[in-house]
Amino acid sequence: MKTAHLYLLLHVLSTASVLVNAFDPITTSVIVGLGATLGKTIYNYLHESCDKKWIAFNATGLKTDLDDKLFGQHIASRIILKAVSGFMSNDNPKKPLVLSLHGWTGTGKNFVSKLIADNIYREGMDSNFVHVFTSTLHFPHPSQNATYKSQLQQWIKGNVTSCERSMFIFDEMDKMHPGLIDSIKPYLDYYDKLDGVSYRKSIFIFLSNAGGERIVETALDFWKGGRDREEIELRDLEMSLSLSVFNNNQSGFFHTSLIDKNLVDFFVPFLPLEYQHIVQCAMAEMKDRGFDPDRDVADKVARDVVYFPKSERVFSVKGCKTIASKLDYFT
Ligand SMILES: Nc1ncnc2c1ncn2[C@@H]1O[C@H](COP(=O)(O)OP(=O)(O)OP(=O)(O)O)[C@@H](O)[C@H]1O
Ligand SMILES: [Mg+2]
Repeated sequence: MKTAHLYLLLHVLSTASVLVNAFDPITTSVIVGLGATLGKTIYNYLHESCDKKWIAFNATGLKTDLDDKLFGQHIASRIILKAVSGFMSNDNPKKPLVLSLHGWTGTGKNFVSKLIADNIYREGMDSNFVHVFTSTLHFPHPSQNATYKSQLQQWIKGNVTSCERSMFIFDEMDKMHPGLIDSIKPYLDYYDKLDGVSYRKSIFIFLSNAGGERIVETALDFWKGGRDREEIELRDLEMSLSLSVFNNNQSGFFHTSLIDKNLVDFFVPFLPLEYQHIVQCAMAEMKDRGFDPDRDVADKVARDVVYFPKSERVFSVKGCKTIASKLDYFT
C-alpha cells in the first residue's frame, strides 16, 4: 500500500519537474509555491496527519473484524458496531462517544479497542491520535493526584486541539482514582466547546473488570439451564452493569457520577469464554503466526487451560489471555 503511494508520488514529482522546465523561465514565487505544496504533499504521505487519508472509518472492515476475529461476544459485538458506526457517520455529534467495556479478564476488551482503532486510523493502535492510559502504570501514586489531574487535562486538551478525531483508552478504569475520573468528566459532556476546543468528535473507551463477576453468574445460569449462550441478551445483564454492582464491587471502584450524568453512552458487557472459544483463539493465533491452524494443537492448548467454577469448569479463568504463550509450549 505504502509502496504504491510512494510510486505515485514519485511520478507526480517527476511530472512536476518536467512542467517547471517547460515553463522556464518561471517566476520564483510559483516555484516556491509549487515546492511548498509538493513538500506538504510529501510530508502528508510520510507523516500521519489528522486528515481523511489517515483517519477514515471502515464500517465493513469493523463488521468483518468483529464477525471473524472476536469470539463469543455476540452482545458486545453488536453494540460496538452500532455505536461506532452511528457515531462515525454523524458529522455533527452532540458529544464525544463514550464506551465502557466490562467483563472478566482475557475476554477481549483491549482486543476490541484495537479492532476499533484499526478501522478508524490507518496506523491503528500505533496512530499518534490513539492514546492509552493505564491507571496503575500512568497514575500509580494517589499522593500525586493533583499533578496527574492537570497533566491529564492538558494532555487531552492538547491532543484534541491538534486532532478532533482523537481516541482515548482508559485501561483499568476501576482502579482509577475518583478525583482523576472527575477531571475528565467535562470532556465527556454535551458542551459545544470548552475553552474554544470541541471534544465532540473524539472517542473515549473505558475498560474495567467491574461487573465481571455478575456477568459470569448470569452466563452460568444460562449454562446450567441448558440454554444457548447466544440467547443471553443485553437486558439479562443490565443488573450486572448497574450502579449498585459497581459500587458494591470490593475489588474496584467505578465512578457513579459518570453514570448519574449519563456521560457513558454504552455499557458493553463481555461474557466469560468457554472451551470452544479457547480453541478458536488458539486457531487464530496459529494463523496469525503464519502456520496452518491445527485443531489437535488447539485442543491441546484448550485442555491445558484452567476453567471455573470448580464443580462445573465452564469458563476459562484467564479467558484467552495466556493462549499465545501456551501455544509456544505445544508447537
Ligand atoms: N473474545 C475474544 N476473541 C478473540 N480473541 C480474544 C478474545 N478475548 C481475548 N482474546 C485474545 O486474548 C488476548 C488478551 O485479551 P484482552 O487483552 O483483550 O483481554 P481483556 O478483556 O482486556 O482482559 P483484562 O480484563 O485482564 O485486561 C487478546 O489480545 C486476544 O488475542
Ligand atoms: Mg485489558
